Order: sequence, then structure tokens, then C-alpha cells
Amino acid sequence: MKKKTNLQKRKEIYNKVLKKITPSKKDLEEEKEIFKEIKEKIENAKGSHSHVEWCGSSARGTHLKGDRDLDLFVMFDEKMKTKELESEGLRIGKMVFRGHKWEKAYSQHPYIRGVIKGFEVEIVPSYIVKDASKRKSAVDRTPFHNKYLLKKLTKKQKQDVRLLKQFLKGINAYGADLKNRSLPGYGVELLILKFGNFEKTLKSISKWGEETKIKFNSKKTTTTLEGTLIIVDPVDHNRNVASAVSEEQYQRIIFASNEFLRNPKIKFFFRKEKKPLKKTEVKKLFKQKEVILIKSSFPKKELEDIVWGQIRRLVKKITNHLNKNDFEVTNEKIYSEGNDLYFFFELSSTNIQKSKKLIGPKVIDEENTKKFLSNKKNIISGPRIEDSRIVLEVPRKYTNAIKLIKDFIKENKKIERKAVKSILKKSKILEEEDILDNYKGELKVVLSDYLRGKEIFE
Ligand code: UTP
Ligand code: MN
Repeated sequence: MKKKTNLQKRKEIYNKVLKKITPSKKDLEEEKEIFKEIKEKIENAKGSHSHVEWCGSSARGTHLKGDRDLDLFVMFDEKMKTKELESEGLRIGKMVFRGHKWEKAYSQHPYIRGVIKGFEVEIVPSYIVKDASKRKSAVDRTPFHNKYLLKKLTKKQKQDVRLLKQFLKGINAYGADLKNRSLPGYGVELLILKFGNFEKTLKSISKWGEETKIKFNSKKTTTTLEGTLIIVDPVDHNRNVASAVSEEQYQRIIFASNEFLRNPKIKFFFRKEKKPLKKTEVKKLFKQKEVILIKSSFPKKELEDIVWGQIRRLVKKITNHLNKNDFEVTNEKIYSEGNDLYFFFELSSTNIQKSKKLIGPKVIDEENTKKFLSNKKNIISGPRIEDSRIVLEVPRKYTNAIKLIKDFIKENKKIERKAVKSILKKSKILEEEDILDNYKGELKVVLSDYLRGKEIFE
């Protein structure tokens, strides 16, 4: 049998992936049915609204199978006061979900979202404006995205959008939320539009440099946008569609594109569950590394996006605190699995020298030497001269990182904001021994991933 070429392998993979991620005819009909029902209900209702527009990926056939969200926009005259738009939007939303589960959500304006027949439906109020740059709020752009893509994307390209979305999901780089810090669906669609198809897009990405800027209209120039990756929104030139993409995610997308093109595997799209490490393997690694784990749970009843920002800041704060106290943090990583949160810290050493050398001013600087020596308590050794400077050894405040983290948690749960407070209150510190004692279930999976330290597609 002849060996498959790289191209054959890729083609096979695309077909396999597309079979799994393309919604069925029945799925699509069901969506349309629900859309029609809601549209009629809203448009027949009394009120100052105009009509309903179906937006988002399901409206243009670029959504993934199993993603059941319908973004429905209720359109209002642009002369309407914001207050009235908001109250009318909420009233109509509540009317749509009568008898169903719903909640109030917030973007630029408050709106209602709920579940109807398994679909997550959002009823978003929006202004009718001439073009997106005349928008009165950020959501007013969305109907223009929809019109633009419906006009430009071919049927084949829609499948390529699905492939690229799934590829990015597979490598953990999809979504503009604060957890994922990567491309939103609309950005993926624009990439396919720009480069033509999935393959060409990956090939272009694989050649991206330090920074990348993508434009759709050469005449209009934009000067104010900044970022590692800039995708100028073709319907609003002041907006970078890729503004959420972090440096790390940008690099990850490039690396994964290169790796996939070199050696195509289906696991780029659907991650293969890796076998957790054996306990003996973990023990061996713990002899080579020093790992501290803080386990906690994700705060409930808080906006996920806000919590993610706070989690990142908290971990940075702990790392800075460790560094300031002379513990060298060599790695830190956050995992969230369901309701559980895991923060890993790796140090060059959990225990450090009990005394700390303070290197003072030059001896000939009499004034400062005097200051340096006054009010120094608990001197262990010194003063003496080293390299013409005055030197003292004093006790360190912390010689053990666990103790430092414990105190940090105790202190900070008094002052931190609600979400962080709840994370700190529920936190447990696990040293290597505790980790080994509890080495089962989810912890096994998370720890193995951490210790392997590999990209998910590697
Ligand atoms: P969604 O977040 O539902 O994205 O936003 P999507 O395009 O439907 O993609 P998937 O398949 O669900 O992941 C709905 C619309 O809101 C606008 C876009 O017009 C998008 O199509 N939007 C959303 C943005 O412009 N930027 C964003 O970061 C998010
Ligand atoms: Mn959507």
C-alpha cells in the first residue's frame, strides 16, 4: 500500500472533522422554526420596536453542531431615548420567555436571555443606524457584521469557518472572553474571507511575524488601532476584531498552524485525552521539581469574565509576593475544571536561607552608612565591609513559601473584593505530599497536564 501524502492526510482529516461539526438539516430547520416563532411573536406585539434581525453565527450558517445559541436583535429607531430602548428591550424579552427559564444579562444595555426548547436565546435591543460607524452602542455593529458576511461568504467558505473554529477550539484558542483571550467567531470568519479557505489561512498564519495587521479595504486607513494582531472590522474601521487576543494566544495559533501543516493529526481539532501519569512517575518528577498547588472553587453568582480578570491578577499578586520575599517562581499556571480552580506555582526552592544579606552603601558615604546601621534589629552577622560596602546579615521574614502563602491568604481575604475573597476563603494549599495523598480523579488529570507542560496538541 502506498503511503499517504501530507495533503491526503489533511483532506481526510477535514472530511472527518466536518462530519462531526456540521449541523444536520434537521438541526437547521429546528433553528429556523424557533426563529420564526419568536420573530412573529415580537413583531406582532404592540410597542415602538420595528423588526427582528437574526444575528450571530447561526444566522449565517457558520456555527458548530451542538452550539444552540440564537442571537436575536430587536431593532429600534435611532431617535429613541436610551432609557426607553432599554425598558422596551427588557419588556419584549420577558414577553418572549413567558413560561420559560430566563435571566437578565448585561452588555452595553441590559437584555434578557433564556432557554427555549434547548436553545439559548438572547433578545438584544439595538438601534437602526445608517452604517456601523454611526452606531450609538457597541451592539449596533452586530447586524452589520451579519449583513456583511452573508453577502461575502460562500457556502464552501462557511464550512472552512467551521473548520477553523474547531481547530482553534481544539488548541484552546477560541473565544474573545477573558478565559480564552483569543479570537471571537466573527474574527475567524474574517480570516477565512481574507485568505480564501482553511488551508490558505493556516499557511498565512504560519508565516505571521511579530505583529500582524489585516485590512479589508485598502482605501480607508486606520491609524489608531494597536495590538499584536489587528483585524480591522470592515464595517467599523475604528474597531480591532482581534483586540482580545493575548500575545501568548497569538503565538499559540502560529505554532499550532505550523505543527499541523508539518504533521497533520485529528487531535488538533479534537484533543486526545492523555493518560494521567502514574503515581511513581509523579514522585520521580517531584524529586526534580518543587510544586505548590492552591486548590479552590470558582465563585458562583459572579460574571465569569470579571472573575477571570481577578483570578489572573490574584495569581500575579501571589507570584510578586513570593518574588519580593526572594522565592524564585519559575512557573505558574491556572486551571479551571467545572467548579474547581487550581493554581500551580513552581519554585526553585520552597525553603530558602534563614539569613538575608543586606548590602548597604559605600563606607565612605558616611551619612548613608549611619542611616543604614541605625535601627537594624536582630543582626545575625556584621556589620563588615565587603567590596567597600557595609554589609549586614539579618533574619529573613519568610524562609518557607508555604508559610508565606498561608499568611498571604489570611491577610488578603480581609481586603479583597467579593470574588477573590470567596476564592481565598475556599482555598486549600497542597504540598507535594498532600498532592500524592489525593492523587485521584480530576487532580490526577490536571496535575499530569501541568507536569508534562506540553501544548495540548503536542
Ligand atoms: P457570539 O459571541 O455569539 O459569536 O456573538 P458568534 O459569531 O455567534 O460565534 P459562535 O459560533 O457563537 O462562537 C454574536 C455576534 O456579536 C458580535 C458579532 O457580530 C457576533 O457574530 N460580536 C461578538 C463581536 O463583534 N465581537 C465579539 O467579541 C463578540
Ligand atoms: Mn453565537
